[in-house]
Amino acid sequence: MTRTVYLNGEYLPEAEAKISIFDRGFLMADGVYEVTSVLGGKLIDFAGHCARLSRSLAELGMTNPHTDAEWQAIHHELVTRNAVIDGMVYLQVTRGNPGDRSFAFPDPEIAPTVVLFTQSNPGLADNPMAKTGMKVISIPDVRWGRRDIKTVQLLYPSMGKMAAKKAGVDDSWFVEDGHVTEGTSNNAYIIKGNRIITRQLSHDILHGITRAAVLRFAVEAQMEVEERPFTIAEAQGADEAFITSASAFVMPVVEVDGVAVGTGAPGKIAARLREIYLEEMLKSAI
Ligand code: PDD
Repeated sequence: MTRTVYLNGEYLPEAEAKISIFDRGFLMADGVYEVTSVLGGKLIDFAGHCARLSRSLAELGMTNPHTDAEWQAIHHELVTRNAVIDGMVYLQVTRGNPGDRSFAFPDPEIAPTVVLFTQSNPGLADNPMAKTGMKVISIPDVRWGRRDIKTVQLLYPSMGKMAAKKAGVDDSWFVEDGHVTEGTSNNAYIIKGNRIITRQLSHDILHGITRAAVLRFAVEAQMEVEERPFTIAEAQGADEAFITSASAFVMPVVEVDGVAVGTGAPGKIAARLREIYLEEMLKSAI
């Protein structure tokens, strides 16, 4: 089936959606994005994604081209037109096409390029990996210093995924100054006893929308949350480990750099958090 995609105000068959070779997203990775999960035809934690999009754009000095209500309407239109039951909506806003290549931002600001498309993934919430857990390796974090802005500079995260693939595991965790920052496309956590440990928010990591919800639910479920950096050795000695993202939700991690975490099987707390997250998010899905 040919997908309908959204480009600058138009709904088009995917093959007809074209952008300029001078687009700054293409030439400079000058753009931001969001990924919102769809479960049962509804958007998960949409308000969170809208809020982060606004922040990313503001940090880069770009005007948000739409109100939250307009963004929501576009998301719903695409989900409906493409009959998405489970999957995601990808949204990207770039600084547009200045008609030439120049390092300086166009001044005054020009029209941004706005692209949205859907990806179907039936049974997204029943990913079998939730039962087996995932394995990670660690690699140095050599990304830029504003990882809190959700830019489309994804080359190093892609290289991290490839390093994991080559090592026969599922993902890489980035390490900076001896401590884990985050996964290639997710936030990282360890559990010791009843305590969930994850790096505090700063410019070093993306402020995960799933992270915010999961930590809120953890506190409500009487778990302790400690926001601080942790080492790979600590992760290897932890009772459990897991990651969160809009597309993986809560996913247990059972091995770090070849060493089993806890029993080497998904832990009870991560499983419970996944359950609570999905249950609560389905209630508030729109
Ligand atoms: N990635 N950290 C990084 C580097 C990410 O790319 C992501 C999300 C997260 C988790 O954020 P959230 O919970 O808001 O999805 C953390 C998305 C899913 C992606 O690039 O596909």
